[in-house]
Amino acid sequence: MSSIISTDINKAAELLKNGSVVGIPTETVYGLGASIFNPIAIDYIFELKKRPRTNPLIVHISSVRQLSDLTTEFPKPAQKLADAFWPGSLTMVLPKSDKVPYQITANKPTVAVRIPDHPVFLKLIDLAGPIAAPSANPYERISPTTAIHVASYFPLGLPLVIDGGSCKNGIESTIVGFEEDKVIIYRLGSISVEEIEAVVGKVALKNEANEANITPGMSQKHYAPITKTIVTDFIEDFIEDFKQQKIGVIRFMTEEKNDNVTKHLTLSPEGSLEEAASNIYAYLHELDELKLDFILIEPLPNRGVGRSINDRLKRATHL
Ligand code: TXA
Ligand code: MG
Repeated sequence: MSSIISTDINKAAELLKNGSVVGIPTETVYGLGASIFNPIAIDYIFELKKRPRTNPLIVHISSVRQLSDLTTEFPKPAQKLADAFWPGSLTMVLPKSDKVPYQITANKPTVAVRIPDHPVFLKLIDLAGPIAAPSANPYERISPTTAIHVASYFPLGLPLVIDGGSCKNGIESTIVGFEEDKVIIYRLGSISVEEIEAVVGKVALKNEANEANITPGMSQKHYAPITKTIVTDFIEDFIEDFKQQKIGVIRFMTEEKNDNVTKHLTLSPEGSLEEAASNIYAYLHELDELKLDFILIEPLPNRGVGRSINDRLKRATHL
């Protein structure tokens, strides 16, 4: 399985140009990438992930100059956000040009774009052109933050997964759009609401799974481990109740141990929400592999990127 993991960027670019789908590192989570101009490869992404074809893909570019080819408008607040956060973990939904296939945008008149902050991915885009890439997980499963996660999800389906190390941010990009030049957040993510508001002022949030949210991927159940997972402030009570069972616990800062817990992980002993974000998916993957009866997770402080992590945990534990 691990034979498909490689650091050969030129080989990956060659594969992409020839219509293959490749596992790609980004600073948020790993992606399953294909050239935006290869319809067969794009279709294979949906096939591999078992993703509904009504759920559009993000297009990744390496320079703001490429925007004029792919989009028809670049509103003032979008320019400010690009200056502040690109390359980085912010995706912007903009009106699409004729060059962007409707297959990528799921028939929407808009395209979601971002410039990732990862040297390997940027080099790859320079070599192979704009790349459409969703997170490299099967539909509804936990997003991958290492090349090994990707290779284990798709042991037969990919010719190559580029190893670019562990993703430094660890959760997906924040998605924003513009409604009459007002900035709307459609998906909480790696860049916090506070950081965005520091650049463009007050924003509106439409990130629930309802018709106000134009982002089809924001379903209530998502990012889910196979193991039953509970988010609770009362971890000790649950441990007491479940002490005949195999339990894994993820806490924010506390490192206290309990003999009834099979595995105990701490997201950030120093209390950094950024560090917690970079660890959360990797920890969920790790505990999910232990075939436990339950995973218990302490909610994060609901500010900054902690709010985005709580959003993911809510979806991961939705039945
Ligand atoms: O960090 C990330 O954003 C990662 C890395 C690989 O870049 N990508 C990612 O892609 O999370 P994905 O496909 O797992 O999530 C993309 C989200 C989906 O919820 C999708 O519905 C939304 O973006 N989206 C894509 N194009 C859109 C559009 N034109 N309008 C509204 N929402 C869109
Ligand atoms: Mg995803």
